[in-house]
Amino acid sequence: MAIERTFSIIKPDATRRNLTGKINAKLEDAGLRIVAQKRIHMTRAQAESFYGVHRERPFFNDLVTFMISGPVVVQVLEGENAVARNREVMGATNPANADAGTIRKEFAESIEANSVHGSDSLENAAIEIAYFFAGTEIVG
Ligand code: PPS
Repeated sequence: MAIERTFSIIKPDATRRNLTGKINAKLEDAGLRIVAQKRIHMTRAQAESFYGVHRERPFFNDLVTFMISGPVVVQVLEGENAVARNREVMGATNPANADAGTIRKEFAESIEANSVHGSDSLENAAIEIAYFFAGTEIVG
């Protein structure tokens, strides 16, 4: 089993409903260690760049507007197979399709307001972590 790091965001719908602690408990219960964390309010430019890969998709503007509608908590999670483990505990993008016990099943409001983001590959995790964190801010 490889020890990996992945990148996570607790999205504005969840910070608005004061769910940061409950989501962090789910992550920790899944064996993930929060080795960096900060609460920020993204600028539009930051969000557009972060989601740049989705620029051509019909929901791009809605997604960016939602992600800057309130504070988010950006995190680095560490653990065995952290990328896949985090995707498991997050649940499917659309909460209607998410398995019982997952973060999105319990907390997400819709496919847009779906409470959390998690990197989809180890390669993207490294890029996304570097986008928000300096190496000195990550304490394993
Ligand atoms: S994936 O795995 O990247 O292909 O996932 P995908 O389902 O394509 O979704 C990518 C991100 O876009 C968000 N999303 C939406 N936002 C607003 N409206 C609609 N209809 C919508 N569909 C998908 C989805 O929550 C993903 O956000 P992140 O932050 O990457 O999880």
